[in-house]
Amino acid sequence: MQGWIIPPPKEPTKSKEEFAKERKRKAKWLIKKGYLRLERIKDAVSKVPRENFIPVMYKDYAYSEVPLPLPGKEATISCPHSYPLFYEPLGLDMGHKFLEVGLGSGYGTAIAREIVGPEGLVVSIEIDPLTFEFARKNLKSEGYNDIVFVKGDGGLGYPEMSPYDKICITAACLEIPPPLIEQLRMGGRLIAPLIEFGSQNLVLLEKSEKEIIRKVICQVLYVSLRGIYGVGED
Ligand SMILES: C[S@@+](CC[C@H](N)C(=O)[O-])C[C@H]1O[C@@H](n2cnc3c(N)ncnc32)[C@H](O)[C@@H]1O
Repeated sequence: MQGWIIPPPKEPTKSKEEFAKERKRKAKWLIKKGYLRLERIKDAVSKVPRENFIPVMYKDYAYSEVPLPLPGKEATISCPHSYPLFYEPLGLDMGHKFLEVGLGSGYGTAIAREIVGPEGLVVSIEIDPLTFEFARKNLKSEGYNDIVFVKGDGGLGYPEMSPYDKICITAACLEIPPPLIEQLRMGGRLIAPLIEFGSQNLVLLEKSEKEIIRKVICQVLYVSLRGIYGVGED
């Protein structure tokens, strides 16, 4: 991805214990920097072993603030701070029905699954078949057996399980795909990187009876959305 410096692939050297220490340090850092505030999100970030969602030759960089390549076309696992950056303004919480567009590694899906708990539901859509299989394997081997996986164009959402309390798009869009706004429940929130005037704004939408309230959180840099509402040709 342009704009990020991806570290070189290398054989992994770190032990399970070293990764556990790094995860603890990362959670503390995210709290100190103000990214991580909500208890359930703190617990999820402290629990999910991010290194198990990363291709072997990039594992040692699991807790570095860089996106890392995944199998598939332009797919990446986002930087560790991205997850609280998206989930905190969304107000993702226990019992929510959550739709993720862009399964990627499955790491964000696992974090969301921990947050929404047994009363909630996570549906995740991935367009790239290679990325989809990578994520599904990661999530299954970490014991996440109750996620609804959808292989296809997330721009179309997944009306079968709608309406959703929260929706997260993890790829940059030129517009928020209208089916996703339709599938958001009244009072629900959607977050997405939106391409505006040549850069990307992380935008939070809240759907009410009368209007869609919009708030810009910050600038970000994400891979482009594909599919019908995508940025490229496919
Ligand atoms: C930044 S990555 C996702 C990172 C992911 N949340 C994680 O934790 O690893 C964006 C993902 O969106 C996927 N994607 C792009 N366009 C899509 C679409 N229309 N529908 C579903 N997935 C899409 C890409 O293939 C890529 O896997």
